[in-house]
Amino acid sequence: MQLPQKVKMVEVGPRDGLQNEKQPISVATRIALIDRLAAAGLPVIEAGSFVSPKWVPQMAASEEVLAGIQRRPGVVYSALTPNMKGYERALAAKADEVAVFGAASEAFTQKNINCTIAESLERFRPLIEQARQDGIPVRGYVSCVLGCPYEGEIDPAKVAEVSGALLDMGCYEISLGDTIGVGTPEAAKRMIEQVSARVPVEKLAVHFHDTYGQALANIYAALQMGIAVVDSAVAGLGGCPYARGASGNVASEDVLYLLNGLGIETGVDLNLLVEAGNFISAELGRESNSRVARALAPA
Ligand code: HMG
Ligand code: MG
Repeated sequence: MQLPQKVKMVEVGPRDGLQNEKQPISVATRIALIDRLAAAGLPVIEAGSFVSPKWVPQMAASEEVLAGIQRRPGVVYSALTPNMKGYERALAAKADEVAVFGAASEAFTQKNINCTIAESLERFRPLIEQARQDGIPVRGYVSCVLGCPYEGEIDPAKVAEVSGALLDMGCYEISLGDTIGVGTPEAAKRMIEQVSARVPVEKLAVHFHDTYGQALANIYAALQMGIAVVDSAVAGLGGCPYARGASGNVASEDVLYLLNGLGIETGVDLNLLVEAGNFISAELGRESNSRVARALAPA
């Protein structure tokens, strides 16, 4: 299969990345990171999350973050919303897009959002309906698509079923999350093959964590399957607080280097992206998890 000519890079660092940090991160730092990512040309930036601050303290004050950013025309600033309450907060904060998040694993759904898969879908239904009336696009995440920290192997048929349910409810895009980064390329292809029989491939995105160092290989496999939307986090920030052992997302800089090498258009500037990653790494007081950022660091 031919590779796509263009890829939409969805930057999740300010949310998926920072949500898992142990140290406090100021609103000002969150805002500065988002503004730098927008300046680098990223078309979609997940800016925060309207979940319970008791569950994920780092994402408290997402209202202040969305109020403080300099909105660039053409950039979509999105936010995670687990329920109606989260949606109302996101709407008041003027998020351009929201995302609901389910999983292909019962145990993970319970640990992450405190309900069953079926209950989670029922919770999303009124939210998605309200968003439709408000003209806010809704993205749907499916976690644990290649393995679960509690259940182990996940049947691709279950991934297809949950993805299809989210599509039918009105999600315009489904992001397939390898939450714990255990997948390998052929397994990713088999999973995508089953899901794309239920959800058109144009509506699919991939979201790889890089725990086992397989993310770029998996992304290449997904591109070969026709997927043209890729999630990543600058400097490889992050992890999921409800998935033990889940390391950060694949680094945006590394994804961009791969896409540039393949001649695929993204509209993102590598130098500015590396600077954004170096900024947040310095703020967090550690070396970047991006191999590309390290390779480009001055001697
Ligand atoms: P619950 O305790 O079952 O909810 O949590 P509840 O409805 O019974 O409410 C309990 C309390 O939370 C109440 O407050 C509510 O008002 C409050 P209290 O009366 O005790 O003071 N509450 C809220 N507050 C603010 N905003 C809200 C909200 N909702 C309820 N939206 C709930 C259920 C879903 C809220 C909780 O489990 C939760 O917030 N979970 C968030 C988990 C999370 O953010 N996980 C990380 C993101 S997912 C991820 O990283 C994976 C992904 O990257 C893809 C991948 O890698 O696979 C997306
Ligand atoms: Mg994630």
